[in-house]
Amino acid sequence: MVEREVVISEAAIASRVRELGEMIRRDYAGRPLVLVGILNGAFIFTADLARAIDLPLEVDFIRVASYGKATSSSGTVTLTKDIELAIAGKEILLAEDIVDTGRTLSYLKEMLMARDPASLKICAMIDKKERREVAVTVDYAGFTGVEGFLVGYGLDCAEQYRNLPAVYRLLKP
Ligand code: IMP
Ligand code: MG
Repeated sequence: MVEREVVISEAAIASRVRELGEMIRRDYAGRPLVLVGILNGAFIFTADLARAIDLPLEVDFIRVASYGKATSSSGTVTLTKDIELAIAGKEILLAEDIVDTGRTLSYLKEMLMARDPASLKICAMIDKKERREVAVTVDYAGFTGVEGFLVGYGLDCAEQYRNLPAVYRLLKP
């Protein structure tokens, strides 16, 4: 088994998700929201964040492929599942697991902005700023300054570890 160490505990995630939900509730009060989770990585974060936002909201999912089985970006992003809700005139909040190069979010932002939402903001559990290649504004960031290749709480390495309740850094064997 690959060695790993905890970098964000289950308790730290839970408390930060509550804070994000409260910020979002204040910012969107009176404005019905569509929360769009980015599959697969953000499936757990989206489920927890949705329950932390005390507002009427709709939930949908979009799926993109940008990583193969390696731990570095292939550089191209392809849409493999679109959302099913119409978003014209609506307030959209994209929920992402982790922002690395920024390619996934800049691709999705451009694609969804073409559908004329009232607004489109981004909430990411982890913002890995050091490897950014494409500028993207993360409006709500859970954690920053976490380095290395991370797994758990939805994040995978070759589709493994998504079910770990905390976030771990993989250590070199
Ligand atoms: P970006 O397009 O380079 O910003 O990459 C974003 C996507 O790459 C995320 O949605 C993740 O699925 C994946 N990713 C980036 N860094 C990590 C990591 O440390 N562990 C697992 N997946 C990652
Ligand atoms: Mg992802």
